[in-house]
Amino acid sequence: MEIRPIDPADVDAVQSLIESDPGYTERITGYPPGPADAQSLLMMRPEGLAEDAKVVLGAFEGGELVAVVDLLRGYPDPSYAFIGLLQVRGDRHGRGIGGTTYGLVERYVADEWPEVRRLRLAVVDTNAEVAAPFWVRQGFEATGEVKPYRYDKLTSSTRLYEKALCWGHPHLAVRDSGIAGQGLFATAPIAAGEVVSVLAGRKVSTAELTELLEHPPVDTITLAEDLHLVLPNDPRPVIAYGNHSCDPNTWWTDAVTLTARRDLAPGDELTSDYGTSTGVPDWQMNCSCGSALCRGIVTGSDWQRPELQERYGHHWIPELLARQKR
Ligand SMILES: C[S@@+](CC[C@H](N)C(=O)[O-])C[C@H]1O[C@@H](n2cnc3c(N)ncnc32)[C@H](O)[C@@H]1O
Repeated sequence: MEIRPIDPADVDAVQSLIESDPGYTERITGYPPGPADAQSLLMMRPEGLAEDAKVVLGAFEGGELVAVVDLLRGYPDPSYAFIGLLQVRGDRHGRGIGGTTYGLVERYVADEWPEVRRLRLAVVDTNAEVAAPFWVRQGFEATGEVKPYRYDKLTSSTRLYEKALCWGHPHLAVRDSGIAGQGLFATAPIAAGEVVSVLAGRKVSTAELTELLEHPPVDTITLAEDLHLVLPNDPRPVIAYGNHSCDPNTWWTDAVTLTARRDLAPGDELTSDYGTSTGVPDWQMNCSCGSALCRGIVTGSDWQRPELQERYGHHWIPELLARQKR
């Protein structure tokens, strides 16, 4: 399946897709699809939003349009993209096309709109039975916001959902590393204190994580005693390529945020100290960071080392800071 922006030549295919799934239009408008619905989908955008901030994407299978997605860049603020609609052709429901299309949308946003850190959408209550479980499966969580919804005679409410994306600074690239395999490198200057990455992914228990770890690679960090974040693996986000150094140039500023510890110049390899994010007691790794401060072996108990506690101050993941205070 491939995804690309819809162009004027696709309008008839979009109209046919909308008409192939009349239940959706009925649930959110109270009426069956009308003859100009594709035109309105392509034109409609929130007041004040620039024309080029709206993109309608089409998912194509063997040249046939099987799903459409309405996306707004920078709505409601520049860190967001808003999904106005994701609709699958009526005769293609139940085949995983929605999930595949959503995965491609995430990739499109990451590639084209690097400033976007979160996706947001609204589910109308009259469509919630169908839509809410789908979005939850894609990793969205209800924000708790509820807004009134009205379409002609249909009066309902919308509930807002959001999903954080795994975000990496735009000045990062994956290259061969002198430390191990591939690593993460600065392609342009990044100042000390700038956020280099905000991690996001699936939240799982230790038992679920243990199962996942049977099928590597799994990129994960600990959020709390029995809660772990597993980063997406298709595609693997750039931050998953960050190697360890015993004298790292990035460090943690909260449970999911890595920040530059020093000014970074183009060509510098970005590193973190795995000891500041790993608290699994039987984990260890022979280190080849080559720094003057190299510990030789990095372990899941390094958070207990007084010299590291002093060097990093509060720049540990919160769970390990909490253990130090216990
Ligand atoms: C999150 S990945 C980093 C990306 C990895 N280099 C790659 O090419 O996929 C972590 C793995 O990289 C290797 N690694 C990272 N830092 C290292 C270090 N300082 N010394 C030795 N191996 C390291 C270890 O194999 C570790 O399990």
